[in-house]
Amino acid sequence: MTAKTRIVALLLTLLVVGSMGVGARCLSATSARCTPSTLFGGGPALDVPYAETRTEAVEKMLDMANIAPGDRVIDLGTGDGRMLLQAAARGAGGLGVDIDPVLVASANASAERQGVADRVTFRTQDLFDTPLADADVVTMFLLPEINLKLRPRLLRELRPGARVVSHAFTMGDWRPDRAERVGGSRLYLWVIPADVSGAWRLRDARGERALVLDQTFQTFSGTSGESAVFDGRVDGERVAFTLREGDRSLRYEGRVDGGIIAGNEPHAWTATR
Ligand SMILES: C[S@@+](CC[C@H](N)C(=O)[O-])C[C@H]1O[C@@H](n2cnc3c(N)ncnc32)[C@H](O)[C@@H]1O
Repeated sequence: MTAKTRIVALLLTLLVVGSMGVGARCLSATSARCTPSTLFGGGPALDVPYAETRTEAVEKMLDMANIAPGDRVIDLGTGDGRMLLQAAARGAGGLGVDIDPVLVASANASAERQGVADRVTFRTQDLFDTPLADADVVTMFLLPEINLKLRPRLLRELRPGARVVSHAFTMGDWRPDRAERVGGSRLYLWVIPADVSGAWRLRDARGERALVLDQTFQTFSGTSGESAVFDGRVDGERVAFTLREGDRSLRYEGRVDGGIIAGNEPHAWTATR
């Protein structure tokens, strides 16, 4: 083999091995696509590979989240920004974060082109370093383990009634409030439940007594003296349960506001911490 042939063989080998490396970087269970950052190396370490949510699934997710003008949306792992840009077209604003600066630059350019750059910002930022407290809606297309890692923060930082929508992946045993299927995509919605767990003083026409609630996400059970709490459900700030005393059942429906739950349906009652 001549020196020239040896050099050509070496270059060919490098090309094949290099392509295999690129392929491995870009492959994923969610049929990820390569972006300039992942393709040419030196890109950021991704917790989730890049894959796009199709337009009809984006629209459905925004419908499920009941996006309204003025809503603040935080899009975690925003990619090319399609979710937030579409939310902006419905009058919402907010922040999209992605670890890939090439995707973020493209999202910001789209925001300029579409005339919504005054309402949406795309930032190169790790989603785990992104504060969530001021979001009305959080959108994501991540991975099951990333959703689970985010779950305690979503429940702690977001206000009761804020919505979370996820493409493809659930939140473990936190059951979605709504699930839809669009084409091949599964889409999930959760409404952040108010925290009603613990001890309350319940007051109604029958007097004042203790109420102790044991909450798991949107549902709860509990006791009030000798009585049992059934069918407890929290929907954002709305609370409903049945108190069963002997063979009598009384329904309570109300709204949580900090340390007070107050209701007039089907009768007037309050509970305070
Ligand atoms: C499956 S893609 C979703 C893209 C877009 N949201 C969509 O639905 O079309 C996941 C995105 O998360 C980004 N990502 C991965 N790890 C991240 C991290 N730690 N912080 C922020 N973004 C991340 C990737 O760059 C990628 O754009």
